[in-house]
Amino acid sequence: MKALEEKIRREGQALPGNILRVGSFLNQQIDCDFMMEIGREIARLYEGYGVDRILTVEASGIAIALAAGAAMHKPCVFAKKYRTGNVAGETYQTTVHSFTHGNDYQMVVAKEYLPVGERVLLVDDFLANGAALEGLLEIVRQAGAQAVGAAVAIEKGFQDGGARLRGTGIRVESLAIVESMDEGRILFRAQD
Ligand code: G4P
Repeated sequence: MKALEEKIRREGQALPGNILRVGSFLNQQIDCDFMMEIGREIARLYEGYGVDRILTVEASGIAIALAAGAAMHKPCVFAKKYRTGNVAGETYQTTVHSFTHGNDYQMVVAKEYLPVGERVLLVDDFLANGAALEGLLEIVRQAGAQAVGAAVAIEKGFQDGGARLRGTGIRVESLAIVESMDEGRILFRAQD
């Protein structure tokens, strides 16, 4: 999505440790009109896939899921993150390791919001090491639903999450793929 690449070029900052700061429109402040454009692009990419529901994980995934859900006229659900494994009630849950933060958390979704047999589109803001999307895939598996694909705003192509997920056969669409951020210069992978 050229508009996203341009936005990242204009507003993104490459921080030490290969972290891309996009707080001005995605991670803290939200550019609402632009977010809705992202949602429409995700809806276009998954048109005809029979998506019943969108699933993401809090916090930053929620805005993108909302935008995609609004464009597709489908509900979106977000997994909650808990630090401990003690979650009461009828839930699906799995442990996810965050490589960026170096910690583990429980990803939790109430069973009532993920019906058996539904076709689910996974959405997130970043795809780095892929642990978050793998956690969402595990939740979908537990629910007996079907993951039809994943859509992320920004993939860090120099980390291995995208390649590993695509290797499982699932469709992964990244609206912008950052190939490198050396010396603060952000380069993107060419996409069709
Ligand atoms: P994964 O998301 O692919 O599993 O990778 P990882 O565990 O490494 O990422 C952990 C968190 O760090 C995620 O957010 C992810 O979105 C975020 N992240 C990874 N790389 C970058 C980056 O270059 N820039 C920014 N801005 N974020 C990055 P999170 O901790 O779950 O945060 P949030 O969704 O609550 O905001």
